[in-house]
Amino acid sequence: MSNLNKILLNKINCKSVWFMRQAGRYLPEFQRIRSKNQDFVKLCLNSELSSEITLQPIERFDLDSAIIFSDILMVPYALGQNVKFTKGSGPKLSDFNLNQFLKSEENIFSDKLSPVYKAIDITRKKLKKSKSLISFIGAPWTLIVYMLNVKEDKGEINLRKLQDKKKELNQIIETLINFLCIHIKNQINAGADVIQIFDSWAGLIPTKNLNDYCYTPNAKILNFCRKQKIPTICFPKGIRERYEDFNDIVKPDGINLDPDIDPAWAREKLRNVVIQGGLNPNILLKDDEDIIKGATKYIRTFKDIPYVFNLGHGLLPETDPDKVGRLIKFYRNFNG
Ligand code: CP3
Repeated sequence: MSNLNKILLNKINCKSVWFMRQAGRYLPEFQRIRSKNQDFVKLCLNSELSSEITLQPIERFDLDSAIIFSDILMVPYALGQNVKFTKGSGPKLSDFNLNQFLKSEENIFSDKLSPVYKAIDITRKKLKKSKSLISFIGAPWTLIVYMLNVKEDKGEINLRKLQDKKKELNQIIETLINFLCIHIKNQINAGADVIQIFDSWAGLIPTKNLNDYCYTPNAKILNFCRKQKIPTICFPKGIRERYEDFNDIVKPDGINLDPDIDPAWAREKLRNVVIQGGLNPNILLKDDEDIIKGATKYIRTFKDIPYVFNLGHGLLPETDPDKVGRLIKFYRNFNG
């Protein structure tokens, strides 16, 4: 069993490290493939290339886990929305059509995503047994932010836009949960060892709606994962001290800290869960001394309990890959 699975399932305290967005733009070998594949969705649907990109950081660094190269927006794509990634302006989705969305069929959905499952199968066969293959989904709220285009450019949500859709919102969430569980099941069948649920925009939810839009949907998906016996890590980014409520209600196997969460606070308040990550990815843009100082704070705080070393958000495109390599070495050799 891989170290990540040992930690999540048996709460064994051993070393385990991987980074969100470890396969991506900061790697020149990724850029070489990306420059020849301008359409990002098409690239995610190219099983051979997706597998190759997934394995790039594993070949370069001493990492314990691979995360499949795909995107959370492949689910809205498979449910009929056009998804475009344009440089500098983030993802753009075509207008949401509720009727079309509610009529989505399971077999068409799974067919459209079959190249992702094939990529998982190819990758799992190439990856050493001692390493985990992580698959992921976006939580319903975070997908809805993109599907209904509710986020303003300055990072605020357009509450009026949401108010207009309030009646429909529950229906959309329930339908998404259904399809997300199908996507999880298909990924497990293809060879995924661990699931991570990204709720990257949970921090935009008004406090009074956290139960309906964040805790309950995450908990429903988590219960499904538990039935499938697959360890699952949640990432309710940006909800600050509500991490404690989230953990008590959803009860995930692992929880990824964002950079706003104080590790000492997390250690005290987040019980019966394996903590992952937290280190601000911006620190990797600084010099080695600052990187070591930042990393030491996390590694020391969680030294004697199961902890998965990772970041508080994805690696930034400007990151120097050599610094990533030195950070991993520092973590491996840490004894203090
Ligand atoms: O290495 C990995 O972590 C696995 C692959 C992965 C990607 N996206 C590839 C990707 C994962 C796990 C994601 C998750 C994802 N996608 C999230 C949740 C995590 C987070 O970052 O909050 C979100 C919100 C998305 C949506 C998305 N996809 C955005 C906002 C963007 C553009 C801006 C950005 O942050 O890069 C993408 C594009 C994307 N997804 C890229 C990669 C490598 C960059 C594509 C490019 O080359 O232009």
